Amino acid sequence: MEMPLSRDLIVVSGTTHPALAAAITARLGATLGRVRFNRFSNENLKVCVEENVRDRDVFVLQTSCSPVNESFMETLILIDALRSASAGRITAVLPYFPYARSDKQDEPGISITARLVADLLVTAGAHRVLALDLHSPQVMGFFRIPIDHLTAIPVLCEALLAKDPTVERVVVATDIGEAKDAGRFAARMKLPLAVIDKRRTGDDEHAMPTAIAGDVRGRHALIVDDEIATGGTILEAVGLVRRMGAAGVEAAVVHPVLSGNAIERLRGSSLERLLVTDTIPLPPEKRDPRIEVVSVAPLLADAIGRIHRGESLYDMASRR
Ligand code: R5P
Repeated sequence: MEMPLSRDLIVVSGTTHPALAAAITARLGATLGRVRFNRFSNENLKVCVEENVRDRDVFVLQTSCSPVNESFMETLILIDALRSASAGRITAVLPYFPYARSDKQDEPGISITARLVADLLVTAGAHRVLALDLHSPQVMGFFRIPIDHLTAIPVLCEALLAKDPTVERVVVATDIGEAKDAGRFAARMKLPLAVIDKRRTGDDEHAMPTAIAGDVRGRHALIVDDEIATGGTILEAVGLVRRMGAAGVEAAVVHPVLSGNAIERLRGSSLERLLVTDTIPLPPEKRDPRIEVVSVAPLLADAIGRIHRGESLYDMASRR
């Protein structure tokens, strides 16, 4: 039997994703701690915790979305304010991790900014982190505090299986790097796997999908990826699987960043359905009848409850 949550659990939220914060607290049967955010005329931010958090187990929810740098600064100031207010333990719950793709020095003279983000979270006062589908698992190694890394892949799988369970699908990885995650997705859904081979052609720095290992002909291709940003990766994959004879194409992606003109590009493509989660809010201009959203609120609420009660997250954790 699940242990009840104790009174000292409290969830507070930054301003980036109020709907997800409300869904998580509703699921937990908790109330959202009161926090006031003000901006001075010089653009500096003031965060005031209007709740008694002394010695309490505080979960700070903040996802990374536009404006990314503003929202991260807000996260840091909120955590620091909680620390000043004597919070007992502070867990940063980051459904979409800021600067997750800046996780390596792939060019001389650049910052590994995801590591800087980790350092800043700890400096601000975070005691632990809860993250979802990091772009690469090495980000976990940037922390000297505990980090729980979960995956929303089962959430996406269940939503797909509940809908059209009889469609003959083949899971498609957008490149070799994605093959491991896509393989887990395929195993969970008991489906075959195909992997796209990307090559640089000529002088162009951009790697293009040139071939596919696996058979998509006559099947519904289900392209999986951790995030969709400009949409380039997914749409190139859509083009290739169509040319290879796929009968239909859909995609399942955890983080709907949908930057730039991604939504217009999607609308102009032959992608039939894009299944995403709500790790990032979708403003009205980024909605489309082809985009379906499944919530990670139950997953995150379950994880928060377990962390609070000191229970294992082993069966929920990403096996990347
Ligand atoms: C790349 O390694 C990632 O898994 C995604 O494929 C990438 O971030 C998607 O970006 P875009 O939508 O801009 O192609």
